Amino acid sequence: MKKILTCLILLFLVAVTYAGCQQRATDSEQFSSEERIVIKFSHVVSEMTPKGLAARRFAELVHDRTGGRVEVQVYPNSQLYMDGEEVDALIDNRVQLIAPATAKMTQYFPQLLLFDLPFLFEDYAQVHRFIDSDEGQAFLEKLRGNGMLSLAMWDNGFKVMTSNRPLRNPSDFQNLRFRIMPSRVLDAQFMQLGAQARDLPFSDVYAALERNLVDAAENTPSNIYTKKFYLVQEHMTISNHGYLGYLVLTNEKFWTSLPEDIRLILEETLAEVTAWEREAAIYHNQRDLELIIKTGQIEPYHLSDEEKKEWKKALLPVWDTFLPEIGEDLLRAALR
Ligand code: LMR
Repeated sequence: MKKILTCLILLFLVAVTYAGCQQRATDSEQFSSEERIVIKFSHVVSEMTPKGLAARRFAELVHDRTGGRVEVQVYPNSQLYMDGEEVDALIDNRVQLIAPATAKMTQYFPQLLLFDLPFLFEDYAQVHRFIDSDEGQAFLEKLRGNGMLSLAMWDNGFKVMTSNRPLRNPSDFQNLRFRIMPSRVLDAQFMQLGAQARDLPFSDVYAALERNLVDAAENTPSNIYTKKFYLVQEHMTISNHGYLGYLVLTNEKFWTSLPEDIRLILEETLAEVTAWEREAAIYHNQRDLELIIKTGQIEPYHLSDEEKKEWKKALLPVWDTFLPEIGEDLLRAALR
């Protein structure tokens, strides 16, 4: 009798659990496969960077606001595609969102060379003044072609130099091999200082530094910290000599074919995340710079105002070279 009772209780418990599971439909099950929309968002940096965090936040907010109808799948750390591959993947609609550094899009949109000019922006406020201005917005609007459409600009921050020898004066750069992103301005910047530039994908930078295939690099504290470049470099000059920002790009055909209401939610959410990302970029770069210094693994040096003046003077010819391509009006708008 006791056995029968135990069996009955067990059966009852199994039935209750099963019924509970049946009732708990997941979000995605509420929509048919035709209604569900999957957006693949590929990027090359760590999840713990301003871009990585913003991509995740966008995915979460979109999930909540569409009741799970739109699923943004974020692939960080070049997991899906690395530099060079992700643009082709976007054009072919194998991914629907990417956020490459502007430098990496200069071959498609040459006026983006503007953002790589050394010492163009003093601080984040100047960057935002430009991007939010009528001229800045009109410029972003124009960034479409090859099936791509730009949706927003996100910050990373200001670059510092890392190297195997101290870099204080322009003459210290002689013959060093620098890893760069693919931008003719960045190439010219290092040539102007008597160094050489090697264009390498972000995912190869750590190994290239470790194996001495290059001697030095420029990047933001958030990238240097999250990818541990400070372990394979001896010196870090806090020069803030250039800005690194991102273009959030989509596949135009995909975007314009979305249902109107969904596209509106995505665009509003992206605008909100863009504002949030600006704060995150300031916070993370400041914090990661402190964390790098705290490791004691790299010798930090803050460039003095006098030294900065020398660097600026040495790099001025780069501005002259690219002015015709960038255009005086755009440059003037960025300098306001
Ligand atoms: C780099 O290649 O150094 C950066 O553009 C990586 C990134 O996306 O921040």
